[in-house]
Amino acid sequence: MRIEENKDSFEYGKLNYLDSVYQPNLSPEFLALAEQARAESRKLNKEGISIALSEAYVISEQVKQAGCSSYMELGSLTGYSALFLLRGLKSGGTLFCFEKDARCADFIESLFKNMPNVPELAGKKGIVMRGDAKEALANWKPPSDVGGAFIDANKSAYPDYLKWIEAHLKGSYLILADNVFLSGSVWGLTDTPFSKKQALGMIEFNKSLIQNPSYSSYFIATSEGLLVARRKD
Ligand SMILES: C[S@@+](CC[C@H](N)C(=O)[O-])C[C@H]1O[C@@H](n2cnc3c(N)ncnc32)[C@H](O)[C@@H]1O
Repeated sequence: MRIEENKDSFEYGKLNYLDSVYQPNLSPEFLALAEQARAESRKLNKEGISIALSEAYVISEQVKQAGCSSYMELGSLTGYSALFLLRGLKSGGTLFCFEKDARCADFIESLFKNMPNVPELAGKKGIVMRGDAKEALANWKPPSDVGGAFIDANKSAYPDYLKWIEAHLKGSYLILADNVFLSGSVWGLTDTPFSKKQALGMIEFNKSLIQNPSYSSYFIATSEGLLVARRKD
């Protein structure tokens, strides 16, 4: 999630600094396509719920380090994070984007048509899975090479998404989950957009990954909290 900060603040300066160090590693074509995704989220007045470049870079590198050829994204908005996940995939890789909003799904499909012109994305494939992710997942058999999921859709369903992943993905896989601090609700802040029920669900979700010996997992303390969990074989 992006932070709208006062330009003199530490957080604003930090994010700008991180972006300036990461950006030279991205081709001009990639940056231009990412800007198209960003502009569309701005048009929808939803830029603030899309991840920052510095977070997107981290998930891209996580997927790369895990050596994934296919990956899933639950909640794609206008495709900004999807482009970074695709960047992290092995050549010829496929990303399955689950997105409920029909306008966003249409936009992502049009965005993906430009992938052949982007060095990091050429030869890769983005597939949009429309509708409610829980329903779409219930009717979907994932290809055997799916190496994990980035969870960034409706926060109350994170525990259900985890159940699906554990039941359907085999061997070692990588789970990335955004907003796992729920704006501080998980440590008791009440002045947040999240209900007590949502906070309790996320507390359970976090514990079930961080305290489970079948995973190597940790938090990255971004402003909204990014959880990284690598399922051991
Ligand atoms: C936080 S935004 C995703 C941001 C995106 N990952 C990024 O960083 O650019 C959450 C997205 O999840 C979608 N969403 C919400 N509930 C959903 C559901 N039940 N199934 C599928 N998508 C859902 C919303 O339409 C929205 O586009």
